Amino acid sequence: MAILVTGGTGYIGSHTVVELLNANYEVIVVDNFSNSNPESLSRIKEISGKDFKFFEVDLLDRGELETVFSNCVIDAVIHFAGLKAVGESVEIPICYYHNNITGTLNLIDLMQKYDVLNMVFSSSATVYGAPKQVPISENFSLNVTNPYGRTKLMIEEILNDVYTSNSNWSIALLRYFNPIGAHESGRIGEDPNGIPNNLMPYITQVAVGKLNELKVFGNDYSTPDGTGVRDYIHVVDLAKGHLKALEKIISSNGVEAYNLGTGKGYSVLEIVQAFEKTTGKKIPYSFGPRRSGDIAECFANPTKAEKDLGWKARRGIKEMCIDSWRWQSQNPIGFQNKNDKNYATTLIR
Ligand code: WQD
Repeated sequence: MAILVTGGTGYIGSHTVVELLNANYEVIVVDNFSNSNPESLSRIKEISGKDFKFFEVDLLDRGELETVFSNCVIDAVIHFAGLKAVGESVEIPICYYHNNITGTLNLIDLMQKYDVLNMVFSSSATVYGAPKQVPISENFSLNVTNPYGRTKLMIEEILNDVYTSNSNWSIALLRYFNPIGAHESGRIGEDPNGIPNNLMPYITQVAVGKLNELKVFGNDYSTPDGTGVRDYIHVVDLAKGHLKALEKIISSNGVEAYNLGTGKGYSVLEIVQAFEKTTGKKIPYSFGPRRSGDIAECFANPTKAEKDLGWKARRGIKEMCIDSWRWQSQNPIGFQNKNDKNYATTLIR
């Protein structure tokens, strides 16, 4: 089975490519490195011991993308490629709509043209907006509150319409909660550009000395300790969920959404305490005002994925903290040679 992975050099994409190679899938990666580093390609090869095809392609370049479809046998697509920073999407919405929606339309168009009708789509719990209650189930109302989230919801709706127009399609919409952690090797991990928006990479950069202290965004939420509660899921568990979704879509038709979360919520302070306890690293922090757009509590009801996909998150918060720290401590500035595009030319084609 040959799987095309868009955005396969990114944080979740690279971890999923490792799992695909470990499961003996043939993999074709396309990426434009807009939010990732070419070095992750050699690291994926190092970890898996397997070769795979890579094409440096922007999904907005339909012609370039078509050369991949015309030159490769593809049985299914896992679609990660897209911009994903909530705050940035508020500042540059048109860039987000163009990049995420137009890029996806090019992909779907070519999938239809080349009769590749199986897709696992990287969606997000952000499509639920501020839930009326927790845990969150897939049939809860969807009400996004930012352009990034709207692109995810729009793509989910586009894919539902595509299936309505052609019932030979088989699509899984995977709604991620909060991915953290890294592969146990410490060779791939989350490598955000600039100052991290997300909690765990911010904590690990404080721990490694790149940042001075963590600002906790609000301690007046209606939660046990007043800080925000989220469903943190190990990125390797998340990656394995994509392989289970792949198995499901290959053997059935239709469009289904699945929550990929642990079903357990942790507060910001609980994450800080767990990180300090498991790594021995002190994380200085102070309280600041709430971050606009943040919600008090968000965690999954993961039973649909457990029942339909036979998937369940296995790794606990300690492993998430230890694996996050191993990646950051072994890669204090993330992937090296951020601007060395030569990596792409020397790597797998
Ligand atoms: C987690 C908690 C913050 C940073 C986002 C996107 C979502 C998905 C995952 C793409 C919150 C608090 C954070 C900091 C803090 N991404 N925090 N200080 O906002 O739940 O979800 O990332 O799909 O779409 O919205 O994750 O890690 O930013 O925040 O106090 O420096 O940590 O307030 O309570 P979030 P996060």
